[in-house]
Amino acid sequence: MPDQYKVASVFGGTGFLGTQVVRELAAAGFRVKVATRVPERAYDLKPCGVVGQIVPCACHYSDEESIRAAVKGCCVVINATGILFEKGKSTFAKVHTDIPAAIAKTCAEENVERFVHISALGVEEAQSKYARSKAEGEDRVMEAFPHATILRPSVLFGPGDDFFNMFAEFARFVPALPLVGGGKTKFQPVFVGDVADAVMKAVTLPLSGENNPQGRVYELGGPEVLSFKELYERMFACTGQKRYLVSIPFGMAKMKGAIISGASKCVGIITGLTPRPMLTADQVETLKTDSVVSEGALSFSELGLKPTAMAAILPSYLSRFRKGGRFGDKKSA
Ligand SMILES: NC(=O)c1ccc[n+]([C@@H]2O[C@H](COP(=O)([O-])OP(=O)(O)OC[C@H]3O[C@@H](n4cnc5c(N)ncnc54)[C@H](OP(=O)(O)O)[C@@H]3O)[C@@H](O)[C@H]2O)c1
Repeated sequence: MPDQYKVASVFGGTGFLGTQVVRELAAAGFRVKVATRVPERAYDLKPCGVVGQIVPCACHYSDEESIRAAVKGCCVVINATGILFEKGKSTFAKVHTDIPAAIAKTCAEENVERFVHISALGVEEAQSKYARSKAEGEDRVMEAFPHATILRPSVLFGPGDDFFNMFAEFARFVPALPLVGGGKTKFQPVFVGDVADAVMKAVTLPLSGENNPQGRVYELGGPEVLSFKELYERMFACTGQKRYLVSIPFGMAKMKGAIISGASKCVGIITGLTPRPMLTADQVETLKTDSVVSEGALSFSELGLKPTAMAAILPSYLSRFRKGGRFGDKKSA
């Protein structure tokens, strides 16, 4: 690779959003370090660039020098690490607060030009541990690197997402799905590719003038605001599944969430595996707050982008859940 290529580092570059960001950075001509705890997870990304353009970079977050090695020589750093539930030493405080703060501090020390931090919508209001750790993470990032750009997406959708795929998979085995708190919580699902585009704007827009993304927070939601119940209905329209929706009050859902996550932990201890709990008490708490773009917030339009409609993407990957698979409803020739 010629030396004039700009170098970017993506922490969490092996994740759902991170992989899209790595691909877009490579397509834009960046050399990309994929900072990951397990370098093998980044191997699949290497063919997305020319030889040597995308490089896995082992990162042990407890070791400051390891973070520094991933940041050194970069003009752009993106943090897309995150977890949905706590597991062993992977606590919300560590992953959403301490790690972003350590990356931001290192970026400042290493004179990185742009740092983009991925947070989440609604974290200022929600009272869950997840939300509070994310909100504190934003504060610590801004303290250490005041020119950071913070992106707060609503729930992400796209092939391989953790939301629609999980519920559609679950619906294959059960006759009913839960409507926590009556399913009234509002979301503004956003296409993962659009959030990756927003990251690219944050790393390429000029640093002078009114569009300068530095030191700004952008709230990213798709074109539609839907309740949880309406999200299920959209999903069923794509999968052809017909399931009952059972309303569960927040209090009862929290109890069930605690039981489910407790049971998952026990299974994990006994088997050595770490099954993903479908619902935790903390996620129920998060569901008490809407995940929608707030009035007057900076969003896609300020980045010169237009978000993609769910209808354009959902059928492409949810149709596999239809009876008979994706061609199940086609008449044979
Ligand atoms: N998905 C959504 O609907 C959604 C909605 C709002 C906000 N967000 C935020 O967007 C960002 C990306 O989300 P995503 O869906 O792409 O997440 P993801 O697929 O779960 O990937 C997250 C990445 O975080 C890293 N990670 C996980 N546990 C870690 C730990 N204990 N220590 C350090 N790194 C760890 C992993 O990298 P390695 O295993 O390779 O180290 C993984 O690639 C996150 O900040 C998330 O909170 C996501």
